[in-house]
Amino acid sequence: MTSVPPRRVILVTGCSSGIGRATARYFSARGWLVAASFRNTNCPVASELRSNVAMVVKLDLGDGDSISYAVEQVVSELLALDAVVNCAGTALVGAIERCTHAQLTRATMTNIAGPLSLIATSMPHLRQFRGVVVVVSSALGRAPLPLTAAYCACKAALDAAVQGFAPESVLVGVRVKTVAPGRVTGTNFIDNAERAGSGVDAIYGDMTERALMAMQMDGDVSCSTAEEVAECIWNAVTDDSNKISYVVGEDAKALMAMRSAMTDEQLRDELVARFELK
Ligand SMILES: NC(=O)c1ccc[n+]([C@@H]2O[C@H](COP(=O)([O-])OP(=O)(O)OC[C@H]3O[C@@H](n4cnc5c(N)ncnc54)[C@H](OP(=O)(O)O)[C@@H]3O)[C@@H](O)[C@H]2O)c1
Repeated sequence: MTSVPPRRVILVTGCSSGIGRATARYFSARGWLVAASFRNTNCPVASELRSNVAMVVKLDLGDGDSISYAVEQVVSELLALDAVVNCAGTALVGAIERCTHAQLTRATMTNIAGPLSLIATSMPHLRQFRGVVVVVSSALGRAPLPLTAAYCACKAALDAAVQGFAPESVLVGVRVKTVAPGRVTGTNFIDNAERAGSGVDAIYGDMTERALMAMQMDGDVSCSTAEEVAECIWNAVTDDSNKISYVVGEDAKALMAMRSAMTDEQLRDELVARFELK
């Protein structure tokens, strides 16, 4: 008699839209038990996904107790934790001098402290199941654009953190990975982005809106779809490789190639010219 292997369990954050929602659907369609997490489990997408996934769970990256409670709920209901994928994130766009302390704290909490806390909380279970962690970072973490300094800094920090704890993860049999997309269509990323300042700024003009446009450019063929990012996350989780860094989208690859071909000063001058900052 052949035994049926147990279904594998994945916790995905940020499932109310975009990449998180596509990732939850992608893994569920391939037989994984998906715990889809939301800040608001009463939102329409949570109701829609409920019938497709193993469980819906409340998780707010800005609240440590909510992270611990969510992880414990998943393990106690689904009896395993083979993968944790942090898709949740939010942009903060605008001149640095227009960012408030509250905005910077929120951006840092959602994009770096929260994801690291999620990993820390999940580690004892991931150790037990020899699991995988994937964080969705961004091409902008490797090749920053103007007017997005705080967001780029958080994504660069995520990459550095993964690089930093990858060696200790080897010791305990857990694989950690980053997926860095360029611009992604079919998400609420731009609508959800926090703006620093408002309207046309006395000093920075319409730069905030132009920076948002540069982050979006829907319809450009070098952009990826949320489903393509989900497919890359699938590969990162299931390819059994020791590869750490995955990049999605021709635009992301081109941006990173430009960054690595330039000195810091050349990059600054290139961006000043491109964004007409003189
Ligand atoms: N779209 C792009 O062009 C792009 C490019 C590169 C990287 N990324 C990265 O991809 C990831 C997914 O973004 P997306 O494009 O799918 O954008 P999105 O459609 O705006 O989705 C973001 C998700 O994050 C959730 N979220 C925000 N703050 C949260 C918090 N404090 N705790 C828990 N969940 C929170 C949102 O939930 P609520 O509904 O509760 O707000 C939403 O589900 C992000 O990390 C983003 O930085 C996106």
